[in-house]
Amino acid sequence: MLPFVVAIDGPAASGKGTLARRIAQHFNLAHLDTGQLYRATAFLVLAADGDPGDQATAERAARRVDPAMLDDPRLLTEAVAQAASVVAAIPAVRRALLQFQREFAAHPPGGRRGAVLDGRDIGTAVCPDAAVKLFVTASREVRADRRLRELRQRGVAAIYQNVLQDMGERDARDEGRRAAPLAAASDAVIIDTTGLDADQAFERALEVVARALAAHGP
Ligand code: C5P
Repeated sequence: MLPFVVAIDGPAASGKGTLARRIAQHFNLAHLDTGQLYRATAFLVLAADGDPGDQATAERAARRVDPAMLDDPRLLTEAVAQAASVVAAIPAVRRALLQFQREFAAHPPGGRRGAVLDGRDIGTAVCPDAAVKLFVTASREVRADRRLRELRQRGVAAIYQNVLQDMGERDARDEGRRAAPLAAASDAVIIDTTGLDADQAFERALEVVARALAAHGP
């Protein structure tokens, strides 16, 4: 039996990360936040005072990314997020990170029956055959507001206008790049969380995933 794969894509602060964690926990599936791979790549480049836009430097960093790095809280800064979207536009970086993601989906760790992967191109490029594809989105203003709260909760001083602008720049890079741009797969279920709280978004996703899981078999 092939693993049951749930692909969740969407822009920053759309709520896809929270949703992915909850779906994984509810159905006892493995979870991979693929943004952490791009953040780890960017972090390695920045830590060595490198240029995230330099192809050779970024590709070398992508090849050095180790799963043990993915929980490092230093990956969560806005500087790393911005640099992540710069390295993510480089095709050689995406190629270097692809195998790890496909391996995770094909052989979910812990002997689990499936995996949830969240990112920007899971349904379109990494796992085009996923049993479920969700595209989670929300207005830019609502996403900037969520990110602002998140930053303040972590004790980071932040201003709404700056967060909104950063978000706009990152969206433009993620949507506008030629290599695997942020986009909903044609067979994705769209969940717009603009007017939904985390519980409501989870309920919508739960329904879709439960139906697909029943069709997938035990
Ligand atoms: O999701 P997160 O904000 O952690 O992602 C950081 C950046 O990594 C994104 O802005 C995007 O440029 C890149 N990314 C990507 N493909 C993915 C996941 C993340 O290009 N599957």
